[in-house]
Amino acid sequence: MKEIFNRRSIRKFEDRPVEKEKIDKLLRAGMQAPSAANQQPWEFIVVENKESLKTLSLTTPYATPVANSAVTFVLLGNSNSFKVPSGWQQDMGAAAENILLEATHLELGAVWLGFATADVAIDYITNLYNLPENIKPFAMIAIGYPDGQKNEFVDRYIAEKVHYEKW
Ligand SMILES: Cc1cc2nc3c(=O)[nH]c(=O)nc-3n(C[C@H](O)[C@H](O)[C@H](O)COP(=O)(O)O)c2cc1C
Repeated sequence: MKEIFNRRSIRKFEDRPVEKEKIDKLLRAGMQAPSAANQQPWEFIVVENKESLKTLSLTTPYATPVANSAVTFVLLGNSNSFKVPSGWQQDMGAAAENILLEATHLELGAVWLGFATADVAIDYITNLYNLPENIKPFAMIAIGYPDGQKNEFVDRYIAEKVHYEKW
């Protein structure tokens, strides 16, 4: 599938909104992901307001692309949905990758901004949105029309990483 091979992290975006239909498709792609026991733990905050994007871009030192994105999704896990608690972050990762691939398909650019293991970032998002205890910040995805960067193939296949039948 060409989207898998061409997807890249896009961190600079045109000053141009992403159409509502495309935002809807991205969210649908996220929710189409597989999840442990089909627990579908995801929730999404969709942010387009420019001031809010600036505030969100301060979540981690590596989240600056959020500031010039057209729309950023904050991905959250809802522990009330957990049936396999140890699987929720893997579920969220599958949803995140689906969104990145759909963004590539829609000729958008996107970048995954992680904070699952950074307590400071989790606290920042929790306080910003006054999240209840059961809502767990996972990551953000900044999205927009690429400005100067493009989704293009880079070969990462390493034959030595493949082990047939035995280690
Ligand atoms: C779990 C995770 C966390 C990431 N966090 C950040 C981040 O905080 N800031 C950023 O600019 N890119 C982030 N990235 C994007 C990676 O830097 C990027 O995927 C990697 O360098 C490979 O480049 P590519 O996506 O263009 O193929 C993250 C990716 C993953 C999967």
